[in-house]
Amino acid sequence: MKKSPSKLPRRSQPVPARWRRDVERVLISDKQIARRIRELSVEIERDFEGHEMVVVSLLNGTVMFLADLIRYLSLPLRLDFMGVSSYGLGTESGELVFTKELRLDVRGRDVLLVDDILDTGKTLHKVLAKLRALKPRRIKTCVLLDKTSRRVEPVQADYVGFEIPDFFVVGYGLDFAERYRNLPFVGVLHPQIYKMATGQALKPRKKQPQAPH
Ligand code: PRP
Repeated sequence: MKKSPSKLPRRSQPVPARWRRDVERVLISDKQIARRIRELSVEIERDFEGHEMVVVSLLNGTVMFLADLIRYLSLPLRLDFMGVSSYGLGTESGELVFTKELRLDVRGRDVLLVDDILDTGKTLHKVLAKLRALKPRRIKTCVLLDKTSRRVEPVQADYVGFEIPDFFVVGYGLDFAERYRNLPFVGVLHPQIYKMATGQALKPRKKQPQAPH
């Protein structure tokens, strides 16, 4: 049975001094992320036992989550990546463009599709359609963060780390204009950062800020 996502921590840790200018608060700390990933790995291992799995990870935001998740999966697995980006050729088309195709053959295989955040669902919707056409035995989806309030496509993940409100989050692989991916925690970006960038060289990508909750 699918377990519900972890509740967000009530008490927030202080933002490390070097990130205070950019990050308003720590939403999920590195320790909380690590604990939750261990729980997810237990669920995934139980569900995939007995079948070699192919982990398909979406570039680029999954880097940290993927690395931490697979080190806890003590099952035979093969790893591949798909590149998908919301903008083609640097223009704000909003079109999803595949920038890297799978190399492994997933026909008849058990696939675990990994992404960092499920937001509108447009990415997973499109990727799932593409994967299903390759005829895997089954596909399960795993995301670290789920912003259910922003959903446009009817997509649900099988394994969810944390359900989060509609905050503009960065860190632990998630970016704003390709920055902040290296933060070891998930933090809420200061609105002044993305407001400053709007209309300038640093344009916000698809994770557009919404009215604060
Ligand atoms: C982000 C994220 C997800 C997608 C989720 O990707 O990594 O793949 O947005 O949004 P959606 O549910 O609204 O489709 P992005 O295109 O920003 O690329 P990145 O992974 O390189 O950061």
